[in-house]
Amino acid sequence: MSAAIPAPWPYPRWIAHRGAGKLAPENTLAAFRLGAQYGYRMFECDAKLSADGVPFLLHDATLDRTTNAAQRLDSTVSRTGGDHPFSTLAQLDAGAWHSRSYAGEPLPTLEHLARYCIANTFLLNIEIKPTPGLEEKTGRVVAEHAARLWQGQAVPPLLSSFRPEALAGARATAPQLPRALLLDTLWDGWHGVARELGCVAIVCNHALWDAALVAQVQGDGLRALSYTVNDEWAAQRLIDLGTDGIITDRVDLFSPAAL
Ligand code: G3P
Ligand code: MG
Repeated sequence: MSAAIPAPWPYPRWIAHRGAGKLAPENTLAAFRLGAQYGYRMFECDAKLSADGVPFLLHDATLDRTTNAAQRLDSTVSRTGGDHPFSTLAQLDAGAWHSRSYAGEPLPTLEHLARYCIANTFLLNIEIKPTPGLEEKTGRVVAEHAARLWQGQAVPPLLSSFRPEALAGARATAPQLPRALLLDTLWDGWHGVARELGCVAIVCNHALWDAALVAQVQGDGLRALSYTVNDEWAAQRLIDLGTDGIITDRVDLFSPAAL
């Protein structure tokens, strides 16, 4: 079943990656606030599950790169984010690794970010980033939370994933939420999978788009989006190709109002 997507396409061209790219600690509320200060009205985030099933924001499977888990957790304890209950994750510092000015930033839950986006009428692309082995469950739980959190809102969040099992889980729980398949390569069968999953968009590594691929995707009634576009020449190429959305780290380079 295809997701019901409001027509016309309700999402803006420009989407701030992980909040504000590399200018603030990724996937923290501080990052989304900074992206908004640069004029962005839609954000991408990465969501996975804590051990007790709370969707929270973290890109990597492990906590090491973007939190102080190495200092806070016993060295014998797992560093996999999904191995810990949210009460433990909430104690970690997800900002100090980036810079002193962000020290103390917590790992947000998806609900924290939902409240911020809804209060400000900002739009969200939730990338379902499962802990390996939990793809289907993560899709189900993230979609269940998203459907509840955004209930009654004019524009739902766009759910995306590299993992078809995660999108299948999302569809099973909340078929009304729009889904997008993320592609870093054009693997065999991607087109049929996107169709079977009722996707409304394909989000590609930007280098993969050419005129034929855009025509194929848009000809099927899907939207063509790209990640992660940080150069002006690349953005211009995608605009000239007639693609529909650009996810960027460079909130300081691209003004969503100007382009
Ligand atoms: O959702 C687009 C993009 O974020 C996918 O790659 O690794 O940055 O999550 P990644
Ligand atoms: Mg992502």
